[in-house]
Amino acid sequence: GAPVEVDISKIDNEPGMRMIVQWRGKPVWIFKRNAEQLKVLPTLDGRLKDPKSDNADQTPAFAKNEARAIKPELAVIVGICTHLGCSPGYVPEMVPQAYDPEWKGGFYCPCHQSRFDLAGRVFQGVPAPANLEVPPYHFVDDTHLIVG
Ligand code: FES
Repeated sequence: GAPVEVDISKIDNEPGMRMIVQWRGKPVWIFKRNAEQLKVLPTLDGRLKDPKSDNADQTPAFAKNEARAIKPELAVIVGICTHLGCSPGYVPEMVPQAYDPEWKGGFYCPCHQSRFDLAGRVFQGVPAPANLEVPPYHFVDDTHLIVG
């Protein structure tokens, strides 16, 4: 599959919105995280399977940081559950959920209840074995990036 150029200027103007682009037949989510959401990430490490994203299969070296991103506010994540490939739902609100009152939002897979944080890091106690994949990407300028 060819690399895909994405204009992210609309996301810059509308925090909370998510773009979905197709890359190599996979959906890639691109969305912003606000300061409050970013502040929560380090507090979750003790509940995660791979908090530092040590598994290089899902995390390129450039994204081996708490936000798993080049720019912390902008997430670029493959939207396919690492368990059996379902599509997790986006839950950006940091409100208690019936299935996990401690959860601070992120991604919820309806197939077998795997949960991920807003950096796509998988929680302990769920079937998904690994963090969601961060695809290779780089910025062309402030409002354009290339996935692939
Ligand atoms: Fe997502 Fe099983 S496919 S939890």
